[in-house]
Amino acid sequence: MSDQQRQSRRPGLSTIAIHGGQASNKTHAHVQPIYQSSTYVFDSVAHGQSLWREDEYGHIYGRLGNPNTEATASIIAALEGANLPNRPYGLLAASGMAAVSTVLLALTRAGDTIVSQKSLYAATHSLLSSRLPHYGVNHVAFDGGRLDELEAALDDNTNVRLVYIETPVNPTMALTDIRSVAKRAHAAGALVCVDNTFATPYLQRPLELGADIVVHSTTKYLTGHGTVVGGAIITGDHALYHDRFLPTLITYGAVAGPMDAWLTEQGLKTFELRMARHCENGMAVARFLEEHPAVARVNYPGLPSFPQIDLARTQMDGFGAMLSFELKGGYTAGVALLDHVRLCTLAVSLGTVDTLIAHPASMMNFKMAREDRLRMGITDGLIRLSVGIENLEDILADLDQALTAAARG
Ligand SMILES: Cc1ncc(COP(=O)(O)O)c(C=O)c1O
Repeated sequence: MSDQQRQSRRPGLSTIAIHGGQASNKTHAHVQPIYQSSTYVFDSVAHGQSLWREDEYGHIYGRLGNPNTEATASIIAALEGANLPNRPYGLLAASGMAAVSTVLLALTRAGDTIVSQKSLYAATHSLLSSRLPHYGVNHVAFDGGRLDELEAALDDNTNVRLVYIETPVNPTMALTDIRSVAKRAHAAGALVCVDNTFATPYLQRPLELGADIVVHSTTKYLTGHGTVVGGAIITGDHALYHDRFLPTLITYGAVAGPMDAWLTEQGLKTFELRMARHCENGMAVARFLEEHPAVARVNYPGLPSFPQIDLARTQMDGFGAMLSFELKGGYTAGVALLDHVRLCTLAVSLGTVDTLIAHPASMMNFKMAREDRLRMGITDGLIRLSVGIENLEDILADLDQALTAAARG
């Protein structure tokens, strides 16, 4: 390798995740300490003023900034911008929904419109369709697979500030073409925000595909061990970060705490390793389910039967470990399957080291009107699986026994 190649070589994801957050650690502790402090001491009034003016870097008060949240946010930003010339800016929020709300509130005012996919994570959908309209922010939805519908929404509405997408979408796994959406949104003067929770920067880096903003529920793969509820906002645009998202986050107050940030930082150290195993197991479980007599259909971006496999191949670096499948026995079979699993954990959430199984119709979308749920592709017998990193044979054996028991009734 020449000197020039060595200098221009970019660090890999594990190197970023393991070394990327140490900048603020001045204590010589090997592992970044937890700065569990609500406020910070000024040397003098002049020192305090210099911090308020941002003439120098430092901390004032926990809601305004904390070394742990900043370190973790900067690692996630670096992962999202792994191939960009400049590291994007990151903020850590108290939850994935705090990150989503901060972005939407920061970018819109009464009279503006947000265009989003029809099918979205349920709370995001509810925020857009039921909450923001109270503040005069309109919501128009398009089918994520239909760019003509997006174009119509952009043509028919004025003041479209943002196009908001989630790909792969929870829980149907349908993909939206980030590059094409960004091209059309930018032509109409709108920004693009992508919820990258399902794919993670291991599989997909939306900023590299033309998006302006990425949001995450760090509750999921980025923390990885189910120990934290958290969120992140990433953007390459300094003005968006500094003048919009940061003031909105600290004014509404949905900031992450230092302990949660620290746990996410520890989780990130094994992020790349975990994701490789997640992907391996995800593909094998998808293939197994597709062959199973109790299963009508499997939605997994890496299967040849997946209608958008070509988009998955160009937009993503792999196919992940999230999948959903349709049981032939519908709602009753869904409930029976979940009541029979022994190894798979019966719980909402996703992206943890253990395999999590959920039946949206009887669990997270239980309160939604059936017609609304069906409109989002969430059928009665749809099961969502977040394939963990346990030994594959054990996951397959548990699914097999539970599917067999559920089919017996
Ligand atoms: C795709 C997606 N986005 C956002 C969220 C919200 O994240 P949180 O629960 O951390 O607020 C979730 C939660 O499941 C999700 O699946």
